[in-house]
Amino acid sequence: MNVTLALDVYGTLIDTHGVVTRLRQIVGDKAEAFSHTWRDKQLEYSYRRGLMQNYETFAVCTRHALDYTAGLHKIPLTDEDRTQLLESYRALPPFDDASEALGRLRSAGYRMYAFSNGSGEAVETLLIHAGIRNFFSGVVSCDDLKSFKPNPAVYAHFLRESGATGAAAWLVSGNPFDVIGAISAGLNGAWVKRSPEAVFDPWGIDPTVTVSSLVDLADAIARHRDGD
Ligand code: 2OP
Repeated sequence: MNVTLALDVYGTLIDTHGVVTRLRQIVGDKAEAFSHTWRDKQLEYSYRRGLMQNYETFAVCTRHALDYTAGLHKIPLTDEDRTQLLESYRALPPFDDASEALGRLRSAGYRMYAFSNGSGEAVETLLIHAGIRNFFSGVVSCDDLKSFKPNPAVYAHFLRESGATGAAAWLVSGNPFDVIGAISAGLNGAWVKRSPEAVFDPWGIDPTVTVSSLVDLADAIARHRDGD
């Protein structure tokens, strides 16, 4: 069976906390906490906008979440700070394991797509900046549907766009809500457990495979398919 991978972008290939270096220059030792609130709020805004059917792009969720976070942490941002932080978000770094892992997956013969809440343009920019765009057959964006993960419609959209069936498709993500969303929509789901402290939501829907590094993914999927 020809296996197709839907690789999530923010938090899987690209490190959203890569913005901490820039944040330190602006918010000092609050940078880590600021970065975590910003990311959590960005995702919350995407879920809420999805439920409310009040769509704005993921970049708008990111901008509104930045303003919320500055308010919560009582850090007034100048227009220049805001502009620079949002520009940094468009050029976030890849995780250290991304390039090697994508090379292994390509050698193993997987068809690979980047699949993200981010707009096609934002994802293309990130992947090119990270030097990993060439590994992918294409980019599939939830923006096409004006909705966000984990709406089941966006996973169905991925299958249509890639021409894959659910049984032959794997969503690969560092975000548990994304893995659960994909499995619920009939795909396989690989969780990249990016920190030893990360907890998978205890919903009784387990990842098809779990890896602690993307580099282990090719072997983990092969073992699963061999029935080990
Ligand atoms: C993405 O879709 C969930 O933020 C994650 O790229």
